[in-house]
Amino acid sequence: MGAHQRVFVTRRLPGGALDRLTAEHDVEIWAERLPPPRAELLARAPELDGLLSLLTDRVDAELIDAAPSLRAISNYAVGVDNVDLEAATARGIPVGNTPDVLTESTADLALALMLGIARRLTEGEGFVRAGEWATWEPGLMLGRDLHGATVGIVGYGRIGHAVGRRLEGFGCELLTASRSGGVPVEELLERSDFVTLHCPLTPQTRGLMGAEALRRMKPTAYLVNSARGPVVDSNALASALTDGEIAGAALDVTDPEPLPDDHPLLGAPNLLVVPHIASATHDTRGKMADMAVDNLLAGLAGEPMPHAVNGRALAARATPQAP
Ligand code: DGY
Repeated sequence: MGAHQRVFVTRRLPGGALDRLTAEHDVEIWAERLPPPRAELLARAPELDGLLSLLTDRVDAELIDAAPSLRAISNYAVGVDNVDLEAATARGIPVGNTPDVLTESTADLALALMLGIARRLTEGEGFVRAGEWATWEPGLMLGRDLHGATVGIVGYGRIGHAVGRRLEGFGCELLTASRSGGVPVEELLERSDFVTLHCPLTPQTRGLMGAEALRRMKPTAYLVNSARGPVVDSNALASALTDGEIAGAALDVTDPEPLPDDHPLLGAPNLLVVPHIASATHDTRGKMADMAVDNLLAGLAGEPMPHAVNGRALAARATPQAP
């Protein structure tokens, strides 16, 4: 395949990485603030050789089928739950993601969320700005300590480990639960003062934190989610906060994203919520863009992507089965 293949990039990316892509290929960059509507994606699909997608784009079997020339998908995220990996693999299309470079920034934000909710930072700021700060009071805005707390980490991969390393510095007792071991999730929920989620969104983790799981948590415990919104049942969480079943929740991700103004979660007490910004530092988002472009350039050149989520599945597909 010659140079100048047709590529669609579904949003502008921070840093200069996209210049490397436009230097080599025929690239259209969606310049709007909101994601391209589904119809726009489908309309471009028949012409595409490469796609650089975001977590807000649904790259499903329908889209992949509509793109007969598509030979590389690069997702600007470590999570790839927006991409139908099976459909891509069946067509022999590599799917790239951006692991490692966002691990530390995401772990930093998880700690910020824990401290923010337990030490009532947004509430305190609102109080000061509303002119309600009359004096130093012994019982004003008492929260709970992170140092010395028992913290349950659900999903103990790269980001879970990075969170754990930070918490060791806070003198926390760590409980972990993951596919490869740790304690049973039920035990983790019952013993933890903070439960922090770092698992990918899969059919097994969707709705993991539903009404029953939330009821298992201590009434003094906090839930922190910087994984994927649908790992938590939003309505069950709103009820658990309203009924005082848990002490609070701090969310970087929600289901849906964004939350509509009238969503029950926004009316629930003791909720800190930020707009999916765990990887949002200049440095990290620039590195993610570099990695996403490297993946796409390799895929378009027919070379192995530096980070292909379905690399093994593609290799297995290419290896003939023994009779
Ligand atoms: C990811 O990469 O999956 C994050 O959610 C956004 O950086």
